[in-house]
Amino acid sequence: MKSKLTKQIPMSSDALQQRVMGLREELNKHNYLYYTLDAPIIPDAEYDRLFQELVKLETDHPNLKTIDSPTQRAGGQPLKIFPEVNHRIPMLSLDNAFTFETVQEFDKRVHDRLKTSALILYACEPKLDGLAVTLIYEEGIFVAGATRGDGVTGEQITENLRTIPVIPLKLTDKNPPHLLEVRGEVFMPKAGFKTLNERAIANNEKTFANPRNAAAGSLRQLDSKITASRPLSFFAYAIARIDGKKDVFSTHHESMEYLKHEGFPICPLNHIANGVKGCLEYYQKLVEKRHSLPYEIDGVVYKVDNLDLQKQLGFVSRAPRWAIAHKFPAEEALTELLDVEFQVGRTGALTPVARLKPVFVGGATVSNATLHNMDEILRKDVRIHDTVVVRRAGDVIPEVASVVLEKRPTHAKKIVLPKKCPVCGAEVLREEGEAAARCMGGLGCRAQQKESIIHFASRRAMNIDGLGIKLVDQLVETGFIQNIADLFQIEAESLASLQRMGVKSAENIVNAIENSKKTTFPKFLYSLGIREVGEATALALANHFHDLKSVMQANEETLQTVPDVGPVVAAHIYAFFRQPHNREVIDKLLKAGIHWPTPKPVPSVESHPFSGKTFVLTGTLSELSREEAKEKLIQFGAKVSESVSKKTDYVVVGDAPGSKLAKAENLGVAILDEKQFLKLLNNN
Ligand code: IVH
Repeated sequence: MKSKLTKQIPMSSDALQQRVMGLREELNKHNYLYYTLDAPIIPDAEYDRLFQELVKLETDHPNLKTIDSPTQRAGGQPLKIFPEVNHRIPMLSLDNAFTFETVQEFDKRVHDRLKTSALILYACEPKLDGLAVTLIYEEGIFVAGATRGDGVTGEQITENLRTIPVIPLKLTDKNPPHLLEVRGEVFMPKAGFKTLNERAIANNEKTFANPRNAAAGSLRQLDSKITASRPLSFFAYAIARIDGKKDVFSTHHESMEYLKHEGFPICPLNHIANGVKGCLEYYQKLVEKRHSLPYEIDGVVYKVDNLDLQKQLGFVSRAPRWAIAHKFPAEEALTELLDVEFQVGRTGALTPVARLKPVFVGGATVSNATLHNMDEILRKDVRIHDTVVVRRAGDVIPEVASVVLEKRPTHAKKIVLPKKCPVCGAEVLREEGEAAARCMGGLGCRAQQKESIIHFASRRAMNIDGLGIKLVDQLVETGFIQNIADLFQIEAESLASLQRMGVKSAENIVNAIENSKKTTFPKFLYSLGIREVGEATALALANHFHDLKSVMQANEETLQTVPDVGPVVAAHIYAFFRQPHNREVIDKLLKAGIHWPTPKPVPSVESHPFSGKTFVLTGTLSELSREEAKEKLIQFGAKVSESVSKKTDYVVVGDAPGSKLAKAENLGVAILDEKQFLKLLNNN
């Protein structure tokens, strides 16, 4: 009789590899069934057993480890910082609609632009209340992911995203695209949020105000193990790029079907609606469902479903013309108005702020709300100690909406505008035709100094990391700095002497100030804090004038030739640059080394002759890489294809072209050499 084997026969390396791959496939499948479909078919213990087997095999044979293994979801070594990444395709925002009429106007604009009266099909989706992220897959493997940031530059948070169980680490397609970039929303389901906060209370830790803050806080952890311990989820809602896949989609919903097939979670409430009427029915349904959903949504999004039509509609500034977010009505609650304080803003405007008895409204505790201005206070007849209706809509600042007059107590007190600035004591004046009363202290007022510095340093302006409200407050209060130009004179050594400031943090801040010197022209214009000049106006000014001197010299008439600049804005810009103090500060900023590349005027997508055309590139270009050419083409609304067909509009031929040139000649497709191509590209 044969004796039983006491030792296991070691697996051949081939067999080992097979087993590891088999386990991964198995685990990925069960992961998908459990997390995405919520329909597990094996007990948890069996999943754990398979998982442990894989962990052991990978520990014993580290050469078999791969980044797409389910074992990589546990989080890795903590990072020091999140590296910044530029989004190849910007991450746009959406225009908001708060009423049915605005949605109808949107639908009308869509029809007008497309010159059609035919019914438009809209892809309707819940507007998920989380954080937008982008996920990049190369040859079917998840390789990088980032936050939205300012839409152009985000933070790379790959390791953190890897820990989210529903985000596929590998696409199911055996023949995946070379590159796939997926956009979607990371969020924290309501149940997970509740448990997380309960745990925080039990451990005497800080709680999160709402699921969105909790999701943001969890995703921006340098230690991905912490992210892994948080109950995060994800829905995909767009494909930003797909390269090397034959069949491209003709509609948004087809692209979502494709993502679903590849293992991405897609919101089950997505729906195709017939025209604006269908959209509004969808909205109504979701308003009713909203509170029973397992995650928070703050509205719905309507997207023109047909991708060709989307392309024809194009973009304005930061938002597509083919989509709109229809926000849910604000939520309201009753509370007592305890007091009113006047806050002084960047431009000296006094904003009455209501101090409230804390109240839970729209998913967060609110203890401050805006009263806007004195006119509003009078119109609503708000008095201290009144019972007021507090309204909160999404991430908009809460406001006092109205007063419950029946509940007015006898000791209710009228609110009076202070005659002197509560910060600097300067006179408070209200100019004719203006809603806001202003402190006349100008930049001699500390509040205005602080606010202008906070604005200058903010993310969307000069993006000085670490220079937040508290530090600016301290710097101004201690007399360290008075204006934005002073920032560039700060030395790490003296900064470190401030209270609560270590040597390392001081160095980091000085470095961040130094790094901010390299900026863009529109950002610089925006950062100056000129009244009524937001990001869009700053961009329009930069596109129109190209250099600072021209903006500074422009008279009000010339300024009004810039799109979106009317007489009021033109007057503010003109006045700003006439003030000697402002000119002095700008001079100092430039001397300190703030610089930007000369902006090239960017034509809008729909006006460019390349828009909607299909290009094929062949051979080596000398002035720009093929990738850059491709990027530019996409930016102008063109499609870039790998092979020449009858549908190709142009073939761009560089040095040593391949067989594509011959094919183009055969089919009679227009051929451009590099010079012609660049001329057409830049001339517009
Ligand atoms: S589409 C070009 N779809 O809304 C359009 N966005 O204001 C890009 N969001 O940053 C966005 N749910 O974080 C889209 N179903 C959805 C969405 C959605 C939530 C967020 C997203 C984006 C913001 C736009």
